[in-house]
Amino acid sequence: MLNFTFYNPTKIIFGRETIKDIAAEIPQGAKILITCGGDSARRYGVLAEVRAALQDFAVFEFSGIEPNPTYETLLRAVRDVQDRHIDFLLAVGGGSVIDGTKFIAAAAHYPGDPWDIVASHGGGVSRTIPLGTVLTLPATGSEMNPTGVVTRLSIRTKFVFKSPLLYPKFSVLDPTKSFTLPAAQIGNGVVDTFVHVAEQYLTYPVAGKVQDRFAEGLMLTLIEEGPRALAEPQNYDVRANLMWCATLGLNGLISAGVPQDWATHMVGHELTALFGLDHGKTLAVLLPAMLEIRRDEKRAKLLQYASRVWHLDAGSEDERIDRAIAKTREFFESLQLKTRLCDYGLGAEAIPLVLEQLKAHDMVALGEQRSVTPERVEKILGRCL
Ligand code: NZQ
Ligand code: ZN
Repeated sequence: MLNFTFYNPTKIIFGRETIKDIAAEIPQGAKILITCGGDSARRYGVLAEVRAALQDFAVFEFSGIEPNPTYETLLRAVRDVQDRHIDFLLAVGGGSVIDGTKFIAAAAHYPGDPWDIVASHGGGVSRTIPLGTVLTLPATGSEMNPTGVVTRLSIRTKFVFKSPLLYPKFSVLDPTKSFTLPAAQIGNGVVDTFVHVAEQYLTYPVAGKVQDRFAEGLMLTLIEEGPRALAEPQNYDVRANLMWCATLGLNGLISAGVPQDWATHMVGHELTALFGLDHGKTLAVLLPAMLEIRRDEKRAKLLQYASRVWHLDAGSEDERIDRAIAKTREFFESLQLKTRLCDYGLGAEAIPLVLEQLKAHDMVALGEQRSVTPERVEKILGRCL
């Protein structure tokens, strides 16, 4: 097992009717900015519940943080925070609202050009506004991690930034708040969570038995409960399990002490920045091809995955790996996500554009072995057509 430091200070408040508990988590007298997305939080009553819980505070609101939150929109929120002297941020929504709120938290007191926060992947952040979250879409794990992803439209760049100062102080995880999700977002969320686990598990063995079994447990739960979430949209226990899987999938627990990949995510971010595909859909397209092309460097873990997650124990090594990859693709398709670029109107002409962006963004040696070069990405994308 590799050396590691594990630190996660986010308090999780989980279960039905837990929004009412947030007031006790916010310093008395704080001036709060609630941040939210398009319209879902208002339409489905989450915002009203949050406002009712905060009736003793001075509360302002910034809405309109879009999916794949943009730097351009977030700068408007930063000005609002500065003008109103806000001292607590409360994100109400999915990963995009939470990520956007982390950027606002970092930028409000940032002395230089705020884009530097993102361009340096969070390096220079030294003072932030504390934030809490009310999660409405289980997927990204942003509710319990120090990471955000922001897109600058003008240069078609989607970058990850992180800072230990950006862990939410608390996150409310009420699974009933995910009942209103459309099927497409449920599928996106399950695939996103599954691929987060894969990026931290399907690498090479380092005798991280605890991490491996946590990861396999999350994957098995997603395989069991993901399709049920579509078939039984009001099933609380199904949603509760998916929500907790999503949070545990990217809160630092399963990555501690093991190698990490993230090549699927980095190439996926370029597909979203260039062509607007949902995050989950980029992953559904890329992961099967990544595993096919990189099977030699991932062989031992792919065989473990085939056996423990898909119960594939017969046949040659390559047959087992082929079947495990095919099962993964079928699982994504069972969640109504298409797994080929052509399903999203993209053909071979997209490939050079992605490669150009990867080079411009210095993403030229990705993956746990730094072996995913633009030449290999070309092969991988060729398999996605
Ligand atoms: O904007 P509103 O009206 O709120 O609608 C949203 C949005 O259209 C809707 N929605 C959310 N909760 C709902 C709901 N609709 C009905 N009922 C509800 N309860 O869902 C749509 C998508 O929301 P979004 O927040 O964009 O989805 P998600 O949570 O999948 O977040 C995706 C973003 O997170 C980033 C992605 O790159 C992408 O930008 N990621 C963040 C990570 C992190 N911080 O660690 C890691 C991930 O790998 C990922 O990269
Ligand atoms: Zn993701």
